[in-house]
Amino acid sequence: MARVQLEGVRKSFGRVEAIRGVDLAIGDGEFAVFVGPSGCGKSTLLRLVAGLETVSAGEIRIGEDRVTETEPAARGVAMVFQSYALYPHMDVYRNIAFGLTLARTGGEEIRARVHRVAEMLEIAELLDRKPRQLSGGQRQRVAIARAIVREPRVFLFDEPLSNLDAGLRAQTRLELARMHRRMGVTTIYVTHDQTEAMTLADRLVVLNAGRVEQEGPPIELYRRPATQFVASFLGSPRMNLLHPSALAVEGLPAGTATVGLRPEEVEIGEDGPAATVELVEELGESRIVHAVLADGSAVAIRHLPETAPEPGTAIHLTFRPEALHAFDGNGLRLGDRESR
Ligand SMILES: Nc1ncnc2c1ncn2[C@@H]1O[C@H](COP(=O)(O)OP(=O)(O)O)[C@@H](O)[C@H]1O
Ligand SMILES: [Mg+2]
Repeated sequence: MARVQLEGVRKSFGRVEAIRGVDLAIGDGEFAVFVGPSGCGKSTLLRLVAGLETVSAGEIRIGEDRVTETEPAARGVAMVFQSYALYPHMDVYRNIAFGLTLARTGGEEIRARVHRVAEMLEIAELLDRKPRQLSGGQRQRVAIARAIVREPRVFLFDEPLSNLDAGLRAQTRLELARMHRRMGVTTIYVTHDQTEAMTLADRLVVLNAGRVEQEGPPIELYRRPATQFVASFLGSPRMNLLHPSALAVEGLPAGTATVGLRPEEVEIGEDGPAATVELVEELGESRIVHAVLADGSAVAIRHLPETAPEPGTAIHLTFRPEALHAFDGNGLRLGDRESR
């Protein structure tokens, strides 16, 4: 186990600046998640930590070691990708044992380690199968087992669940969380999926165009997004972002260009801004009421199941003034800035 530190890390591919100066400290045993839209630099940053790319500037440390120019194999990291190429002609046991065999680990120790990892990931009864005799989820677990068995200092995952269907993705996500609780190995996990990011992370790192937009515990980023980008990226449905005049609230900080209000912070009440219901989405555990304000802007409201007004109904929006997020013209949070 080891902490991971990035200092002033930059990476250019020709004229493309993929990473534009990243400083990060991931604690020993922490589960860090890099999240952000496609092309923001998540994979590049992970590959820099792995040593599969070399930095254009900056330093990378793992544990006490400066590894900026160290070969991937000597960094003590193990990486699991979205496409997990297992050796098709080898059975599960040999796939898991392969890296240890290469490293000339003793036979008895290999056997013990493979069996321990296989038990942990509940694939012990699959050890003599070939990859083609496994489901997608089982194959992904074999790929994870192959990484774990090497007992790395740091695990690196790049969108490891995106090839799985929704049910299996949720199940494997839970298994990864359990595995991390049990083993406590420092982990960096890349995803574009905000639910995966929120649920897995101790430390959530939101990337945007090659820079860290905000980082910290997921709930802090959710409650006090430092920027409009983070505000709209985290949460489903997304935070409502409105012109301040649309809600006619008083007491906003000077310079407020946009106000944000999460769907679960709005209720349909007796007074407040007038709106008209346009559409109601059924989610089972709740309903999302989509309404239109007088100025034409759209608002989503999370409503209890069973009841919800019909499309066309005139309603009023009620919310606590403290629930509002204020952003300036550059998309930076105004007001409570202590978490920035
Ligand atoms: N080998 C490469 N050569 C040129 N450009 C690259 C290379 N790898 C990544 N990029 C560019 O760097 C940026 C970040 O890519 P990437 O890290 O793959 O994003 P993400 O994983 O967040 O989708 C993109 O603009 C991408 O086109
Ligand atoms: Mg990627």
